[in-house]
Amino acid sequence: MSLNRIDLGVTCDMHVHVRDGAMCELVTPTIREGGVSVAYIMPNLQPPVTTLERVVAYKETLQKLSPKTTFLMSFYLSRELTPELIHKAASLGAVQGVKCYPAGVTTNSAAGVDPNDFTGFYPIFKAMEENNLVLNLHGEKPSVSNSKDGDDIHVLNAEAKFLPALAKLHTDFPNLKIILEHCTTAAAIQTIEEINKDITDPADIRVAATITAHHLHLIIDDWAGNPINFCKPVAKLPSDRRALVEAAVSGKPYFFFGSDSAPHPLENKARHIGVSAGVFSQRFAIAYVAEVFDQQNALDKLKDFVSTFGINFYGVKSADLVSQDKAVLVRREYTVPETVTDHKGITMAPFMAGHKLHWDVQW
Ligand code: NCD
Ligand code: DOR
Ligand code: ZN
Ligand code: ZN
Repeated sequence: MSLNRIDLGVTCDMHVHVRDGAMCELVTPTIREGGVSVAYIMPNLQPPVTTLERVVAYKETLQKLSPKTTFLMSFYLSRELTPELIHKAASLGAVQGVKCYPAGVTTNSAAGVDPNDFTGFYPIFKAMEENNLVLNLHGEKPSVSNSKDGDDIHVLNAEAKFLPALAKLHTDFPNLKIILEHCTTAAAIQTIEEINKDITDPADIRVAATITAHHLHLIIDDWAGNPINFCKPVAKLPSDRRALVEAAVSGKPYFFFGSDSAPHPLENKARHIGVSAGVFSQRFAIAYVAEVFDQQNALDKLKDFVSTFGINFYGVKSADLVSQDKAVLVRREYTVPETVTDHKGITMAPFMAGHKLHWDVQW
């Protein structure tokens, strides 16, 4: 395709961290600046978002910061949730899903769950299934602390080791909508393909995967030595990246975009102890993806990946949108800035700082 303008429709980024406080004020408007209409917001604040009051107040805050962005909201899976709360929140449209973090695997996940035994949460999953809510899985198996040698779990195999737990959840709740978030391995792609192999009608998809922009670009060498590119799950082998790129451009409706844009102040990334996991990709989210689709001669598949498939899986209707504006991808060369700052104390390094990009978005 040698077009210079591509209509993207109602774009969606189905995995976004916008934090709270000053960071939230800085990053929330960048969702729309990056060409995204609909954003699914992660609940891993401190403390995590587990009540109706918090999630409603959080959404109001975000809506004020970006009046034309449609926000889909989530709860953080924890013991504080009850089936009654799920029914109530769903009936009010206050949340569209629940995010599950295995304890200890990533930023603000200390309050997370043990994926070796989800059965304590089965009443929650049942309520979610009944209300058509989405279960968002951070798919990494935690290492039992201090025994990485004994249990042989580490950053490179934690996702593959989680996949049986995903398959079991789907078997136990065949109608529950489940997303394996930010998948990073060929093994994960194969698992999602296998689960969907007999699907002929996209409306029947129950298990999908999101793919980030940065995992389409990065491999292990890009974060080993550069903490700006360190995130969880970590970027893996060239063969894994190839599998992700193939899935993204495949036109298969169970693979769609979720940036996992995860802002951290530069001083928490550029340090030698306790580096925060997360890549800040929001401002150029769709541009980073377009770059890869262009390299693959697959720009004709971009709209499905960043719009149609995510919108369909979540069942977002036109009436749910706060704005009917639609983003357009335009050919334009520019350089990603070295930093993004609010000039009040927060500075961040955006993904691919200093790199040239060839596509931008316009409203
Ligand atoms: C990667 C690189 O430069 O190697 N990006 C980065 O460091 N931010 C990969 C890429 O540019 O695609
Ligand atoms: O790299 C990550 N950062 N992965 C996650 O799962 C969480 C996120 C964050 O919140 O910073
Ligand atoms: Zn995650
Ligand atoms: Zn995330």
